Amino acid sequence: MFLHLLYLILPLLILPLPISAQLHTLALQAGKKYFGTATDNPELTNTAYVSQLGNKTDFGQLTPTNSMKWDATEPSRGTFTFSGGDAIVAQAQKAGQLIRGHNCVWHQQLPSWVTSGNFDNATLASIVQNHCSTLVGHYKGEILSWDVINDRINEHTLPEPFNDDGTFRTSVFFTTMGTSFIPIALRTARAADPAAKLYINDFNIESSGPKSTALISLVKSLKTQGVPIDGIGVQTHLIVGEVPSSFQATLQAYADLGVEVAITELDIRMTLPATQALLEQQQRDYQTVISACKNVQGCVGVTIWDWTDKFSWVPGTFAGQGAACPWDENFVKKLAYQGIVAGWTN
Ligand SMILES: *[C@@H]1O[C@H](CO)[C@@H](O)[C@H](O)[C@H]1NC(C)=O
Ligand SMILES: *[C@@H]1O[C@H](CO)[C@@H](O)[C@H](O)[C@H]1NC(C)=O
Repeated sequence: MFLHLLYLILPLLILPLPISAQLHTLALQAGKKYFGTATDNPELTNTAYVSQLGNKTDFGQLTPTNSMKWDATEPSRGTFTFSGGDAIVAQAQKAGQLIRGHNCVWHQQLPSWVTSGNFDNATLASIVQNHCSTLVGHYKGEILSWDVINDRINEHTLPEPFNDDGTFRTSVFFTTMGTSFIPIALRTARAADPAAKLYINDFNIESSGPKSTALISLVKSLKTQGVPIDGIGVQTHLIVGEVPSSFQATLQAYADLGVEVAITELDIRMTLPATQALLEQQQRDYQTVISACKNVQGCVGVTIWDWTDKFSWVPGTFAGQGAACPWDENFVKKLAYQGIVAGWTN
């Protein structure tokens, strides 16, 4: 009798638990729109990479890292090329994934005809309008959300010309147009694709401080003026062990403005070599970030800034740092993957 019972129970104990731990599926179960990843055109020649990129149980959304930026789409004035962006849109559509447009106006990756054109205010305004209208219009109906205004913008609206690293930062748009390029770009994007959610996407806004305060007042002021603004993109390029303690409260403060919040460029880098202790801390950090999005109702989704260390921007930008993604260079899941799973499920 007793032995019979053991025979019944033992296989149940030994059988592995059903593996349903997949990042996008779990995001949907948590009430979000997607879990997704950035990708870039040169990577699309790697078949093993593309196979996992198209795995919709992990990734329900793609963002093109570079190929919709100004230097790629309007390299000379009035001449548009969309082949790079189109290839990523086609890849996403094949896999049934949502797409984030990235981006209309940014002070980096600009062609020199924009930065060195010495345009006056009205001419640059028409250039911004033509660029956003043509870009967003080209993808009309295909894009869930657009990063219309991309980072290093809101410090321009601070009373003092400072930013987080203490240097004065400026851009051709701000110098020539003041902050008027922000409503101009947003209104143009709305007209070009009324269904797309329009975002301001920024970095170092993951904690409360002068930058997040400036962003909050900017969004309030845009809403008061009737300028279309639907969301705040929190880039979330973090360092292992340094997830701000106010992260969730900051996401909540943005959501309280009545806009969507999305984590748009998540990665969590470390000083190399990656040790077991660092990878374990990174797992906890990914979990903390994902739980914060889960707990804030207005947070609609999370995008990682590529899924594999093989194609991460980090080593090329921060000397001696890397291992920032949830998969390693050989496309093997790291502990960070389990951190994301735990963030969605706990
Ligand atoms: C997709 O990803 C999940 C989770 O990482 C994995 O279990 C599954 O085998 C993958 N599917 C394909 C077709 O590669
Ligand atoms: C540029 O023109 C806009 C009107 O489109 C105006 O509001 C703004 O103050 C001007 N900015 C500068 C720096 O001249």
